[in-house]
Amino acid sequence: MKIDVVTLFPEMFDGPLGHSMVKRAIDKEAVEINRVNLRAFGKGKHQQVDDTPYGGGAGMLLKPEPLFEAVESIEERHPDSKKRVILMDPAGKPFNQKMAEEFSEEEHLVFLCGHYEGYDERIRSLVTDEVSLGDYVLTGGELASMVMIDATVRLLPGVLGNADSAVTDSHSSGLLEHPHYTRPAEYKGMRVPDVLTNGNHALIDEWRHKESLKRTFLRRPDMLEGRSFSKKEEQWLEE
Ligand code: ADE
Repeated sequence: MKIDVVTLFPEMFDGPLGHSMVKRAIDKEAVEINRVNLRAFGKGKHQQVDDTPYGGGAGMLLKPEPLFEAVESIEERHPDSKKRVILMDPAGKPFNQKMAEEFSEEEHLVFLCGHYEGYDERIRSLVTDEVSLGDYVLTGGELASMVMIDATVRLLPGVLGNADSAVTDSHSSGLLEHPHYTRPAEYKGMRVPDVLTNGNHALIDEWRHKESLKRTFLRRPDMLEGRSFSKKEEQWLEE
């Protein structure tokens, strides 16, 4: 997979791209991540990328030309790739695991990171998706895009150590993940549930499913809306 990020702050990505899972994915060539410095496409002596809004009002807006030209430069480098161009926007569709799964199947993702008060509206004609990290306003799209890149890249084949671990993630099954335990079997009076230590895998699977469902019911009932339950699941929820 190819990822291009258009940003005024390419150095903000040094940390996240240089560590952990994303670094491993880059080293394994599962992904190639390229930063495009928006400033390089700025206009005039000061390489200006922003300007005041028509009609007045507070703050500055990103001008259309630098962003259009930055995206055109990516198109020129990769004329044949099928691109998804994703605008980081607090007014966009909220990012979730399903979107990360969808993104992980694409050939080429282009993230556009904004700053200042917003974008010239014409920039939206460049994009296929407008996505928000959540209902809060960040100082720019960089952190949002890093989160989305991290969630997407870990799903690429061969990136996670254990092939199963993405399948059992919270959210991928539509339920939160069940509790986990490791040694010691007892710590400060807290015991690991017996079912996990007796080696009966059918019972362990059933216990995990039940705990996932109960946890989701208690913490995130919104995730269960529209879901139908088996008889057994209904009994668990009544306990
Ligand atoms: N830019 C500023 N806030 C943002 C958010 N919540 N999501 C995506 N991009 C943003």
